[in-house]
Amino acid sequence: MLALDAALVARLQQRKQCNLYRQRTIAYGCPKPSIEIGGKTFLSFASNDYLGLASHPQVIAAARRGLDKYAVGSGAAHLLGGYSHAHAALEEELAEFLGFERALLFSTGYMANLGVITALCGRGDYLFVDRLSHASIMDGACYCGAHFKRYRHCDMSALNAVLNAVPGKARHRLIVSDALFSMDGDVAPLSELAAIARRQQCWLMIDDAHGMGILGDHGRGSLNHCGVLPQQDVQVLVGTFGKAFGTFGAFVAGSKNLIEALIQFARPYIYTTASPAMLAEATRASLAILRGAEGEERRAHLQNLIRVFRGGAVQLGLPIAGEPLTPIQTLVIGEVLRARQVAERLQEHGIKVALALPPTVPSGTARLRITLTANHNVAQIYYLLERLAACLC
Ligand SMILES: Cc1ncc(COP(=O)(O)O)c(C=O)c1O
Repeated sequence: MLALDAALVARLQQRKQCNLYRQRTIAYGCPKPSIEIGGKTFLSFASNDYLGLASHPQVIAAARRGLDKYAVGSGAAHLLGGYSHAHAALEEELAEFLGFERALLFSTGYMANLGVITALCGRGDYLFVDRLSHASIMDGACYCGAHFKRYRHCDMSALNAVLNAVPGKARHRLIVSDALFSMDGDVAPLSELAAIARRQQCWLMIDDAHGMGILGDHGRGSLNHCGVLPQQDVQVLVGTFGKAFGTFGAFVAGSKNLIEALIQFARPYIYTTASPAMLAEATRASLAILRGAEGEERRAHLQNLIRVFRGGAVQLGLPIAGEPLTPIQTLVIGEVLRARQVAERLQEHGIKVALALPPTVPSGTARLRITLTANHNVAQIYYLLERLAACLC
């Protein structure tokens, strides 16, 4: 065996021993919400396609039109000819929808977070990050070279304490948080965060990957839901298209100067091929649906499913966490082995949920991550509740 393989085998073995070994399953067809895996059909509660737009005929038709017009690949980086009219139009529509001066597309949310943080902060600067923020925020914070302080999840007195402990002469100070936490389903106290950022003269960056399209008027997201002002209260907003938009990619919204600075300095923006223009066309169609009457109907249906699920879970005494308004509903089980057993039992009953294990979540808090979408119906929620009650006892 090669030396490299031998070293890796030891690490892989260790991961297996801790029951933390990750494995992929091959899915066939689109989750609507049934999904075929290994010749069996499962009812899936593991998708972030919250509004069911990934399979919407108008979104698919827009992608096809984009494919005919622009071909498959964009052919180059944004700054070297890969930037098309479809990209520019989507950026303008997003900025107008969200109330920011400008928006900039990134290939993924991971790259957007990495790109913004490393472009804005460096040696001598300070970053303050909610402890349960997404891995891409943590990675950006580690790579950028700034002093990196984590504060207790959603705890504003903890944030104030770390801010007060930092020398006043720090160059730049950036607070970063998820808006709707991906593994817990709770919403950050955005108006308190904005007030602290104002008082302490920090910049505020919010990642609304999971709230965008779901919360706020016309799906404008968590900022609108919490009554905080774009640009004035929150200087940097990150959103992704792989969740409620049902497509793929991400964006950053902010002032004209922020976007110009990212075009100059954000390496994950500069040094990568532009995402396909046909995806931008599909996302434009998603945005039009999401902000219109059909988006309202889909959100209302989803909220009803969330109410049914939470009402039932409380009645059954299930260990439910998260918030009543969001499609991410988590059942914290605790030990990894037990969480795996429950997920496997659910699978035997034809239900697929996501398992969130350390290091994605803190150790001792292995959980079932259940996501509800507008593609589900009430009968399916009752079936899920019934099976959860059976598998958890
Ligand atoms: C809060 C948050 N930010 C960023 C990302 C990364 O987005 P993408 O999947 O587009 O890379 C995710 C993805 O799961 C997320 O949950």
